Amino acid sequence: MNTASALAYQSGFANHFATEARSGALPTGRNSPQRAPLGLYAEQLSGTAFTSPRHANRRSWLYRIRPAAMHGRFERREDGLITNQFDAAATSPNQLRWDPLPIPERPTDFVQGLTTAAGNGSPEAQSGCGIYWYVANQSMRDRFFYSADGELLIVPQLGALRLATELGLIEIEPQEVAVIPRGVRFRVELLEAQARGYVCENFGAPFRLPDLGPIGSNGLANPRDFQTPVAWFEDREGDFELIAKFLGHLWSAPIDHSPLDVVAWHGNDAPYKYDLRRFNTIGSISYDHPDPSIFLVLQSPSDTPGVDTIDFVIFPPRWLAMEDTFRPPWFHRNVASEFMGLIHGVYDAKAGGFAPGGASLHNCMSGHGPDATTFERASVADTTAPQRISDTMAFMFETRNVIRPTSYALALPQLQSDYADCWSGLRRQFKS
Ligand SMILES: [Fe+2]
Repeated sequence: MNTASALAYQSGFANHFATEARSGALPTGRNSPQRAPLGLYAEQLSGTAFTSPRHANRRSWLYRIRPAAMHGRFERREDGLITNQFDAAATSPNQLRWDPLPIPERPTDFVQGLTTAAGNGSPEAQSGCGIYWYVANQSMRDRFFYSADGELLIVPQLGALRLATELGLIEIEPQEVAVIPRGVRFRVELLEAQARGYVCENFGAPFRLPDLGPIGSNGLANPRDFQTPVAWFEDREGDFELIAKFLGHLWSAPIDHSPLDVVAWHGNDAPYKYDLRRFNTIGSISYDHPDPSIFLVLQSPSDTPGVDTIDFVIFPPRWLAMEDTFRPPWFHRNVASEFMGLIHGVYDAKAGGFAPGGASLHNCMSGHGPDATTFERASVADTTAPQRISDTMAFMFETRNVIRPTSYALALPQLQSDYADCWSGLRRQFKS
C-alpha cells in the first residue's frame, strides 16, 4: 500500500509537463515502448480530437499500475438531483436569484451533494454546460467519480477541498478554482467540516486562456499562475465504486482497486488550479467601463470565431478611477446569458440580497443592473477620487445559449420571489 502524498505543482497553462512519482517510471524516446518501465501500463488520455490543431490539442500519456479499462460492469445509478435535461421546465425571461443552499445534516459527499441548478446544450452535442451547486459534509472515501460529459470547473465558496485525481493532488480553498478534464477520475476530500460551491461542467471545447489583443502579452490571468499537480498515486485494493457521469446520467461500476494509480505522466491534458486573487485586473483610468469581457479568466470557444460557448468571468477587488462615470456595473441587456455567484464579500451592483453562496440568473436580453439603492448612491458619489472595492469576489458563467434553470432550482425555497423588486424603487427622474 502506498498512499504517500505529494502536494506539489508545476506552473503554466496546458503546458507539456513531464512528471513521475517513482524515479524511472517515465519512458524516454517513446510514448508507448514495448514494455513500459517498472511494469506499468502505458495509456493515452485524449481531451481533444487527435487531429486538433497543435495549439488546441490536449493529450497526456499515463503510466499506471492497471489500465482504466479494468473495472466491473456499469449499471445505471440514481441520478438524484443531477440532470442534463434542460427543457423539462419552461424557461422564463424573469431575472432570478437564489439564497445559498443549506449544508445538509445527513452525511453527504461531493457527488451526493451535487444538484443541477441550470444549463444548456447537451453532453451528446458536446456543446453547452451544466451548472451545479454542491454542498457536502463528508469526504469521498471508497468512491471515485469522472464525467465523460465535460470538464469540471469547481468553484468553492465554503470550505477547502483536496482533489485526489489520476494525475495528482490539488488543494483549493474559496477564491481558488480547479478544472478537472473530461474523463479524469478523482475523489473529493473535505479539508474542513463543511463545503459548498459551484461547478460548471463544460460540454464543449476545453477552457483556454483568452487572446489579449491590444492589452499585450501580460495581464488578466497570467499563464504562470495556473498550477498543475505533479504525479502522485495510491496503490489500494478493496471494494470500491467508480461512478461515471455519461450522457447526463450516473452509472456505477465496482472496482477492486483505486483508479488513482498513475505513477508517472507527461502531456498537457491535466487538471489545474488557479488562485483568483492573482488575476491582473484591468479597467478604465479615464472614463466609462470597458465591457465585462475585461474580467475574462477562461473561455470555451465555439465554432463561431469571437463567440464563446462559455466564459468564466470574475469580479475581483479593484480600484475604480473613472471620472464623471457611473462606476458600478451599468444597466444592460446581453445576447449572452449570465449565471452569477458570489464567493466572498459584497458585490458592488447590489446593496443586499446577494449572499456568498447565492446565485443570480439574467438570461438573454433580460434587463438587469444595479439595484435602486446602489444607483442612488453611485449617482451622487465623488468620482474625482479613486475608490477601492476591497471585499469582494464574484464570478459569472456567461454562455452563448440561454441558461435554463431546472425544475428543482425553480422549486427551491431559496429562490427569491421578490428579486425583481430591487429595481422597483428606481425613481422616475425625467421631467417632460
Ligand atoms: Fe450582466
